Amino acid sequence: MDAVNPVVEAIRRRRSVRQFTKEPVSDDELDRILESAVWAPSGRNNQPWKFAVVRDPVLKESLATLTHSGSIIQGAPICIGVFLDHSRVYDRTKDVQAVGACIQNMLLAIHSLGLGGVWLGEILKNKEKVGELLGVGGDLELMAVVAFGHPAERSGVGERDPLEKAVLLRR
Ligand SMILES: Cc1cc2nc3c(=O)[nH]c(=O)nc-3n(C[C@H](O)[C@H](O)[C@H](O)COP(=O)(O)O)c2cc1C
Repeated sequence: MDAVNPVVEAIRRRRSVRQFTKEPVSDDELDRILESAVWAPSGRNNQPWKFAVVRDPVLKESLATLTHSGSIIQGAPICIGVFLDHSRVYDRTKDVQAVGACIQNMLLAIHSLGLGGVWLGEILKNKEKVGELLGVGGDLELMAVVAFGHPAERSGVGERDPLEKAVLLRR
């Protein structure tokens, strides 16, 4: 694998991590991850994201019942609910894209800090229940839960289709 530069290498080497050790994540690490999230681009710089940080084991236990990925949530020292803030929305497609960029920033920051994490989307089938459980307002729509901690598994190399399958035109 080519180590082109640190950013490209982090993008290439990041893999979803679903098993974690019990080692806690520090507040400093958490702040760096959240800080990376909010430096994502957004249309008109409207920053349409909000975060709910869950460390409490009892709350995580309840969150875990709302998805098939529940065991990942139970095992992760921190889960962050990432919400689209409808009070800031100006164009749904662009705002959802901005939240996606912010989630990817989080995953890359998690990886570059030597931690591991995963983007959980299956839980969106219960997005209203997640909102109620976390006590967030009706203006907020769940986009994902990011679960992370110190990795207890070695990441594989990952799998992607050959580039030729994705690139339609080079002209
Ligand atoms: C929108 C979205 C939803 C996802 N939902 C889940 C999920 O509910 N549970 C899970 O274990 N992984 C989930 N993932 C992680 C993907 O399975 C993972 O990113 C994909 O298999 C590629 O693997 P990699 O991240 O290691 O490169 C989700 C990823 C995305 C982007």
